Amino acid sequence: MKKKTTIIRNASQILTLAGDNRKPRTREGMRDLGIREEKDTVIAIHQGKIVQVGKEAQVLQAVKEMGIADESIQEIDASGKLVMPGLIDPHTHVVFGGSREYELELRMNGATYLEILQQGGGILATTRMTRAASEEELFAQTWKRLDSFLQHGVTTVEAKSGYGLTVDDELKQLRVAKKLTQAHPIDLISTFMGAHAIPAEYKGQPDQYVELIINDMLPRIAAEELAVFCDVFCEHGVFSIEQSERILTAGKQAGLRPKIHADEIEPMGGAELAARIGAISADHLLKASDAGIEAMAKAGVVATLLPGTAFFLMTAPARARRMIEAGVPVALSTDRNPGSSPTENLQLIMNLACLNMKMTPAEVIVAATINAAHAIGEAERVGSLEAGKQADILIMNVPTYQHLQYHYGVNHTDTVLKNGEVVVEGGKLVYES
Ligand code: NIG
Ligand code: FE
Repeated sequence: MKKKTTIIRNASQILTLAGDNRKPRTREGMRDLGIREEKDTVIAIHQGKIVQVGKEAQVLQAVKEMGIADESIQEIDASGKLVMPGLIDPHTHVVFGGSREYELELRMNGATYLEILQQGGGILATTRMTRAASEEELFAQTWKRLDSFLQHGVTTVEAKSGYGLTVDDELKQLRVAKKLTQAHPIDLISTFMGAHAIPAEYKGQPDQYVELIINDMLPRIAAEELAVFCDVFCEHGVFSIEQSERILTAGKQAGLRPKIHADEIEPMGGAELAARIGAISADHLLKASDAGIEAMAKAGVVATLLPGTAFFLMTAPARARRMIEAGVPVALSTDRNPGSSPTENLQLIMNLACLNMKMTPAEVIVAATINAAHAIGEAERVGSLEAGKQADILIMNVPTYQHLQYHYGVNHTDTVLKNGEVVVEGGKLVYES
């Protein structure tokens, strides 16, 4: 099907996030949204890419010079609305079977997240449900979650394995992610996370499980090119610093860049490990030490913060202000998973980042667009509205960006363009599959 040429006009405000985007944004750079609000600013899109964002006369001239006839141009009127890059979710566990609604009840009756895991529930319960699900079932269940992401304005999602915990079941999860990225409008960027929990069969023998990851899982995943990153749940009672370092080093040797679930529940030195090993991001970081934060700033590790997880587990969120002041680039994510953050509403996560972590309304937008793109190595392709980038664009039902944090808890998405195609219109899914 031939892709159309599209012009978006009349936006009340356009957030381009244009600028020097070779590195993730830090400090003052996290407040620069590249705002365009002159009445005659338009965005031209051709063959799924952004041609130009600029003054109408100039942009139309450029389109004409490309040999595009007026009749083949589709116009979108964004009057009274905010136009911005598609949101990017750089940390999810979206491919899994079943749900764990009953755990909320257990937690309200006093059980903690780690206690539930240690008793064979939590991640291990989802592992049983994921192992029992066929590839087709996993595909169908995940498809619905991706639809919900898309309706909330999320156009790219990182997706981790880690609910298989056998060679075959980890491969199954990653193959489902690969099929989904080909079939669903959302782009999925895959991470291998065999080190998500010690499976029941290896209870009391964590080192043997680490061997299985390094010797059997990693080589297969690298050979089949099923993942870009390797992640580890570095936590007391899960994977130690030493085990995490071994796994991430082996992952690096297999061509997978490290990511870490770091210092989520207890201060472990995960942030320090992320800096030492050259991780692209360290995630969670609720209990990250001052030294760990400094080390991350120096090494340029992105802090992917998940305030929805802190909210859902009823704990204090990460120290975002301290990180930003130290020069750490911050990104935001839902952590979409069945246990600690069952939501696809990245806009609500942005609200929580603002209200619970004191990030400014501008900082949260940088954190969920260009910095999120950097956290998954995709910043050359997505995360801002600049000539040559993929046309993943949102038209939001608000006149300016401040409304997104002020009118909180609401999905403001009106229209979503993915690769230049309208996939959500008036808040409803309209893509053909
Ligand atoms: O990022 N921390 C570990 N993993 C997930 C939770 C997974 C689950 O509970 O199923 C997280 O919070
Ligand atoms: Fe996670």
